[in-house]
Amino acid sequence: MANLFLLLLFALFLPLSISGPIAIEFLYPNFTGSYFNYIDNSGGIFLTSPHNTFQAAICNPDNQQTNFYLCVIHALSGTIIWSANRNFPIPNSGVVKLTSSGLTVSLPDGTIVWSTPSFSSPVSSLHILDSGNLLLLNPKNTSLWQSFEQPTDTLVPGQSLLAGSALVSSISTSNLSAGDFRLLLTSDDAVLQWIDSQQYWSLSTDQRANINANGQVSSMSINSSGLYLFSTRNDFEAVMQLSFSGSSDFLIARISSDGRFHVSTYSSATKGSVDLFVAPINGCDLPLSCKSLGICSGGNSVSTLTCTCPNLLSKTSGSDDCLPVDGRVLASPSVCSNSSMLSTMSYMSLGRGTDYFNSKFTNPTRTGVNIASCESLCNVNCSCLGFIYKNSTQDCFILEHKLGSLTSSSTDDAIGYIKIFGSSSSAPQANKDSSNLIAILLPTIAAGLLIVVLLVVVFQWWRRRRTSGIRRKWKTKSMAMKEIHKPWPVEVQDSDDDEFPSDEEIPIPGLPTKFSYNQLQTATANFQTKIGSGGFGEVYKGVLEDKTLVAVKRVRAIGRKKEFFTEIAVIGSVHHINLVRLKGFCAQGSRRMLVYEYMNRGSLEKSLFRPGGPVLEWQERVDIAIGAARGLAYLHSGCEHKIIHCDVKPENILLHDRGQVKISDFGLAKMMTPEQSGLFTTMRGTRGYLAPEWLTNSAISDRTDVYSYGMVLLEIVRGRQNRLVLRSEESGGSTSSGSSSGVGESEYFPLVALDMHEQRRYAELADPRLERRVTGEEVERIVKIALCCLHEDPGFRPSMTAVVGMLEGTMPVPWPRVDLLNFLRFYGRGGNMVGHSGFGNVGVWPRRISNTTNTTSTSESPTYSFLSSQQISGPR
Ligand SMILES: *[C@@H]1O[C@H](CO)[C@@H](O)[C@H](O)[C@H]1NC(C)=O
Ligand SMILES: *[C@@H]1O[C@H](CO)[C@@H](O)[C@H](O)[C@H]1NC(C)=O
Ligand SMILES: *[C@@H]1O[C@H](CO)[C@@H](O)[C@H](O)[C@H]1NC(C)=O
Ligand SMILES: *[C@@H]1O[C@H](CO)[C@@H](O)[C@H](O)[C@H]1NC(C)=O
Ligand SMILES: *[C@@H]1O[C@H](CO)[C@@H](O)[C@H](O)[C@H]1NC(C)=O
Ligand SMILES: *[C@@H]1O[C@H](CO)[C@@H](O)[C@H](O)[C@H]1NC(C)=O
Ligand SMILES: *[C@@H]1O[C@H](CO)[C@@H](O)[C@H](O)[C@H]1NC(C)=O
Repeated sequence: MANLFLLLLFALFLPLSISGPIAIEFLYPNFTGSYFNYIDNSGGIFLTSPHNTFQAAICNPDNQQTNFYLCVIHALSGTIIWSANRNFPIPNSGVVKLTSSGLTVSLPDGTIVWSTPSFSSPVSSLHILDSGNLLLLNPKNTSLWQSFEQPTDTLVPGQSLLAGSALVSSISTSNLSAGDFRLLLTSDDAVLQWIDSQQYWSLSTDQRANINANGQVSSMSINSSGLYLFSTRNDFEAVMQLSFSGSSDFLIARISSDGRFHVSTYSSATKGSVDLFVAPINGCDLPLSCKSLGICSGGNSVSTLTCTCPNLLSKTSGSDDCLPVDGRVLASPSVCSNSSMLSTMSYMSLGRGTDYFNSKFTNPTRTGVNIASCESLCNVNCSCLGFIYKNSTQDCFILEHKLGSLTSSSTDDAIGYIKIFGSSSSAPQANKDSSNLIAILLPTIAAGLLIVVLLVVVFQWWRRRRTSGIRRKWKTKSMAMKEIHKPWPVEVQDSDDDEFPSDEEIPIPGLPTKFSYNQLQTATANFQTKIGSGGFGEVYKGVLEDKTLVAVKRVRAIGRKKEFFTEIAVIGSVHHINLVRLKGFCAQGSRRMLVYEYMNRGSLEKSLFRPGGPVLEWQERVDIAIGAARGLAYLHSGCEHKIIHCDVKPENILLHDRGQVKISDFGLAKMMTPEQSGLFTTMRGTRGYLAPEWLTNSAISDRTDVYSYGMVLLEIVRGRQNRLVLRSEESGGSTSSGSSSGVGESEYFPLVALDMHEQRRYAELADPRLERRVTGEEVERIVKIALCCLHEDPGFRPSMTAVVGMLEGTMPVPWPRVDLLNFLRFYGRGGNMVGHSGFGNVGVWPRRISNTTNTTSTSESPTYSFLSSQQISGPR
């Protein structure tokens, strides 16, 4: 029985172990071979070159037994100089076939994983040369295909790398799959690149290279005396070259799996390869010298190269990369597109003096910007993983694709930040370690973290309380909470238990602190100091128990409670340096209040229009315009919650000392109605800033805000309201149509701006109070941007992101299209056509304006009024 089994086994394996003969120089169809056919006497080799310098084989690099490739091997050194199926290895029983139609590599089941292209004439032989070139010949002995034209990671003498093509590294010495590094021959240089063309070396900047001539590069090749980049003009003219001393029989140039470019020779004496040239010289220039986010130093020699992790990061078990110690996760497309993670976005400092591996070769994403705009550039883009900012040059570098290694820069100048998500599992420590950098630069984030941590604590406690069901002890506990978290008082009362959202309804992160009505009543000294009245209610100044100043907005309660909470969670999760921060809220009974950070200079409306104060200088105006634009751009292009403001106006642009500019009242428009569709069916916004699409029932989009912003921009230029006619209305209380004063008529500023634009007379448009402390060119740029924002067709208005670029000067300003601005003439000649609303009677006005319903509020705040088909949101 056992004998029979052995016999069977023997019979089974017998055919496979028959060794095929090794062909020399030529191999003819029909040939079929597998590793098994050739293992016994040759280790997979089935064809050798005339002098056996090179061999064609079914090889298994590093002697592993899983990946087999069709390859060309340098006989003496065993170096693989080419492989056919690098990305599709076959098992040891996979098959290489030569037929009259070409060469194929297939799996044991016959699936072809690699083949030569189809040819017009039949293949008569496979030919291998002593140079290592493998060719397919036709019956006339001319070449149909050659391996030298399909380089993998290696170049040998006699082979040319053409401009536009590249040598691509292998994953490792045993896995020949294409890796992330390449040596690319461009039309003027040879460069090393990592993922998505991030360059880290170039031949032209290497001191060892000789640059002989200028000219377009057409090819690169090596011979025993050097490496040459030849020009297109003359095949023998080397544009650039590296010279090697000493000659050798075998020379190869290759990009290794760590990303280095080597030119090496084989030494028979040592039976090993010797490098003639290695680039980059400094190990720290390699993208992954210290894996992801390791800081590399001492890269000039292998023995001194050391890797450390930045302060707040460390290597965790199972990973060579440096990761945040507090358990938060690095940004990645999947995290960034996850709505529940998005609200937890923050930045972690990599410390001062950290630079990115490719700093010598990369151009800043933006230059001449401050760190806040560098950050906001990263905020709005899901593909941004972090940024490096250089203070002295004001350069902003956005990090993308995949995070590489860091270097310590020679100066303290560069500061690096990485984007992270999730809540910290050891927040106090993280806060301590990050020290004042985060505290100074990203104070909002620190506050955000605190809120998240507190919320988690509060909810844990609240849930426990719920399950325990001991309602009586509640208040005592609540007092205890107050003691512990004094700066963020949270008081929960029996009475509004039902109002507190349950965890199913509300995404917990992002929900700001809940205040009781009494707390806010106390904070505002019974709503004593009114500091504004905006679209959604009056605003009062207040002081919290921890002495922080706040602005408390009493929201006109409209919409259901659940939506209120949902919106609060959204608003609370939106953090940007140019957006007013929501600190907390109150929802008790029918009362709705929002607690915002306090902006001590009040609104732009105050600084710009009210007489008495100092005149805003031009540069301040531009800075305010940029800040406001950035805030809106963030609202519009946030990865998850796209927010349309719907009420952009100077009253909603707040100013603080040190030039801070923040947008307020965002996210509130949605609270007004039950519709969640994003397509608004009732009219919101403020007269004078309302885009034409409000009148035509067409869809409201982010470009609706762009229109309002354009109106604000003109007011910033002129220093007064676009529609003076409203002032006369205010004093005169005129209600009869067609009675507007001549002044109001002629001075509808957007129309003046359009006229002056047509006549190229920009300087006259500037605020007269500036007394020519601004040039016509400067005014021209802003006015043109503003006019582009006012284009009647929303599709022809720029995005807010583009507006930021134009204001910053990184994007060209397009020419405003007069044909898309002529509608302003209807608005402007409002005197004859418009009722006291100030709007043109253009025949598409479907709704009544509700500002006659409450004359008291109208006189209080005459320049805006809410419009609604349901008349529910009367003016303030
Ligand atoms: C190779 O095989 C094909 C089909 O199996 C056959 O038509 C052809 O004649 C063969 N060629 C040689 C040279 O044996
Ligand atoms: C092609 O080359 C082979 C080997 O050198 C030779 O035997 C054959 O005659 C050549 N055929 C032609 C058509 O030149
Ligand atoms: C080789 O590397 C590729 C790319 O990383 C990977 O997908 C593949 O699984 C690797 N193969 C082996 C056998 O490790
Ligand atoms: C290498 O190529 C260069 C440029 O074509 C040539 O000048 C040189 O003589 C070659 N060296 C050898 C050893 O063939
Ligand atoms: C989003 O993140 C949360 C928290 O990490 C996770 O539980 C959830 O599965 C993620 N959702 C998706 C779609 O990846
Ligand atoms: C995000 O960055 C990528 C790469 O720089 C860019 O192509 C893309 O347009 C950016 N997206 C936004 C919204 O700015
Ligand atoms: C940035 O540079 C300015 C002057 O160039 C200097 O006043 C400021 O302190 C620097 N900030 C940091 C954080 O190094």
